[in-house]
Amino acid sequence: MIVDDIAQAVTALSTGRLCAIPTETVYGLAANALDGSAVARVFSAKERPADHPLIVHVATAGDANDWISELPQWAHELAAAVWPGPLTLVGPRTEIASDAVTGCQDTVAVRVPSHPIAHELLSKLKAEGIQGLVAPSANRFGHVSPTSATHVSADLGEYLSAHGDLILDGGDCEVGLESTIVLATGPAPVILRPGAITSSDIERITGIAVATAEDNSPRVSGALDSHYAPRANVVLVTDVSKIAALPKAGFLALADIKTPSGFVRLGSPASIDEYAHELYGCLRAGDDKELETIYVVPPVGLGLAQAINDRLQRAAF
Ligand code: TXA
Ligand code: MG
Repeated sequence: MIVDDIAQAVTALSTGRLCAIPTETVYGLAANALDGSAVARVFSAKERPADHPLIVHVATAGDANDWISELPQWAHELAAAVWPGPLTLVGPRTEIASDAVTGCQDTVAVRVPSHPIAHELLSKLKAEGIQGLVAPSANRFGHVSPTSATHVSADLGEYLSAHGDLILDGGDCEVGLESTIVLATGPAPVILRPGAITSSDIERITGIAVATAEDNSPRVSGALDSHYAPRANVVLVTDVSKIAALPKAGFLALADIKTPSGFVRLGSPASIDEYAHELYGCLRAGDDKELETIYVVPPVGLGLAQAINDRLQRAAF
């Protein structure tokens, strides 16, 4: 059931039910992070493999200390500059972080969302003694992340209504791509998943060069080769003059690139920010229109454009 009353979400989450919640990045499927059976239901609702760890969402940067035992100085500076915002820090776990949350790793992922509804919800739950919410993106595992309550309902609505769980509507997500995940266990930041907080933001704030993820870095399911994928086949194109329309073919590109004849235009973002904001909705629209193929011209550039390219490559894999 889709609701817009935060009090109903507070009641649901504090009594062991699930609630999909809006954040500035994408919608998350939330559960009390300290309620083992609610956390287990998050995995079944999403059909998510148990070894894929979850992000704990807390109300303030100070509350992250409940979950992460220690952070290097650069990570404190990064948190102070970005939180609340689209950044997740991975650090050594405290004893309250269960194996179900961490996927049995010795680290835990934590973030402080900036969406006003998420913030109000987390603050009210904190007043009731709930120290954090796990909230993976509220989609079926491997599917495109949801950026509206309607997207959540399309993926998980049947499961959620059958179990008395809720969807809290907070409008369209501002950023539209999942948070930047930064491993904060060593002397330099390591980006595990690119997002709206870019490596140059991190270097500017911390004064430290960002390291690249090594093969033995912790698992990030969003880093599987195939992820974020609609049902339609996604094909990335750089030279539009080389493509010819098949039946049921969609097209997504920045507004200044004209639609080649025969394609169904799915989106015309006017900027890179708009591209991120609209991307998942456009891919879902392709499925709603029962298209077989979606041709996408990826944005060129650094920063957020790189995060968009990361998701597009996984959608196309
Ligand atoms: O923007 C976001 O981060 C959204 C919103 C709802 O907050 N959440 C999200 O959650 O994208 P999810 O579960 O779809 O992606 C979480 C990612 C996964 O790829 C997971 O592997 C990684 O975080 N992760 C969680 N705990 C980790 C850990 N201890 N070490 C490394 N990666 C971890
Ligand atoms: Mg996800």
